[in-house]
Amino acid sequence: MFRRIRSFQAAFLITSLTTTTAVLAPSAAQEDFEMTPPSFSIIYPNIDPLRGKQLFVEKNCVLCHSINSVGGELAPPLDASNNRREVDLLDFAARMWRGSYAMVELQATELDYQIELEGYEIGDIAAFAYDLETQKSFTEGDVPPEIQQWIIDVSTAADDGLFD
Ligand code: HEC
Repeated sequence: MFRRIRSFQAAFLITSLTTTTAVLAPSAAQEDFEMTPPSFSIIYPNIDPLRGKQLFVEKNCVLCHSINSVGGELAPPLDASNNRREVDLLDFAARMWRGSYAMVELQATELDYQIELEGYEIGDIAAFAYDLETQKSFTEGDVPPEIQQWIIDVSTAADDGLFD
């Protein structure tokens, strides 16, 4: 699943990341860091939006989140934006982290378990969450009936007292 990048490639990657970051307005926090040459290599997952589309359904994200109007209404939709073309894996993980308190609580109530995710699976789902073209092809036909029946719309959530 992973492509291990050798140090010289990592150095190249970091150089290009630094350049890109500079162009794409770094956050205040990032500006405070001085880049030191890496003594490690970076593992970069081969992310795939089509696999992400499948995982979005199989891992049950679709029960609470919608994409292209397919899915639940309990959580913010995860539609890609028209004007952000770059996939930011760490930002996606950070957004999940910020939502984690509510997500873990609700998964316990609604699913009876906490969803298990490997790093590369988060990468695939993030790729799908940023990929407008793949999202356009996402329809109810991608969600099997046994999962569709558990999708949480506003009225189910109200019946379950989730908005109380
Ligand atoms: C049981 C319901 C539920 C399930 C299942 C669920 N989430 Fe969430 N998720 C939420 C809720 C509710 C929030 C909003 C939390 C908040 O605002 O504090 C959220 C927030 C998020 C956010 C941040 C949204 C933003 O606007 O930045 C991301 C990203 C996210 N979830 C991804 C996922 C992924 C990926 C999966 C599947 C692996 C998943 N969620 C499964 C309920 C769920």
